[in-house]
Amino acid sequence: MSNTFTKHTDRQNLTLCSDAEQASIYTARQIADVILEKQKQGERAILGLATGKTPIKVYQELIRLHKTEKLSFHNVISFNLDEYYPICSKSIQSYSYFMQHHLFGHVDIQPGNIHIPHADCSSDRIPFYCTDYEEKIRSFGGLDLQLLGIGRNGHIGFNEPGSSFDSTTRLVDLHALTRKDAEGDFGTIENVPYQAISVGIHTIIKAQKIMLLAIGKDKSQIISKALRGEISTEVPASLLQTIPHVEFILDRDAAALIGD
Ligand code: GLP
Repeated sequence: MSNTFTKHTDRQNLTLCSDAEQASIYTARQIADVILEKQKQGERAILGLATGKTPIKVYQELIRLHKTEKLSFHNVISFNLDEYYPICSKSIQSYSYFMQHHLFGHVDIQPGNIHIPHADCSSDRIPFYCTDYEEKIRSFGGLDLQLLGIGRNGHIGFNEPGSSFDSTTRLVDLHALTRKDAEGDFGTIENVPYQAISVGIHTIIKAQKIMLLAIGKDKSQIISKALRGEISTEVPASLLQTIPHVEFILDRDAAALIGD
């Protein structure tokens, strides 16, 4: 499989893959390697996980590794990036449902090791809830690996344009483009929540390793801005240009506008 990938290490740690499938298999393999390495050391693997269409094939590959290569998730502690607010965690649009459906329901992760910002709490409790989420991540020694997608406006998690680079877990307002992109999932734009709970940019960049996966030509413009444009809070993912432990994994279409 090695001839499928090209690494450019001059500017960024960039892995270019021929298509979505190769990018997803490659990403899943990196996640599996962290889990296995930690198992060898008798330690837990603390994973930051993402939702959206982009990681679906990654999760399919992890499930395949679990079912056919006996990859166990018994030592995995997971923290998801975000969740809509308000939303019922049982609703099919919730990220709790997404994770159960696309990954957790098919592997041997212990239910008590799953953490997803839960948006069932009352608004006055949110600040306490967010502080507690950060504290839980810290109590496990921080994230070993953070998987990221990217929104078409450059958001990571739900850190929308304007998010401060030292932000932590908090309630955020969703950008109009983000709500528009979620319309398909919710049926109508009116049904899309206006807010979400998201871990912050500071929370993300403290992970030992960060993998940002982007797939498809719809992401080519924002990938070009995030990787080659000015570093600005207007494009939250652009901050990742400055972080050495980030790997950008792109398929051919997402990489179309970045040049050499
Ligand atoms: C949502 C999620 C992000 C994700 C983004 C892109 O906004 N909160 O974590 O990266 O969507 O989604 P997709 O992969 O469907 O393009």
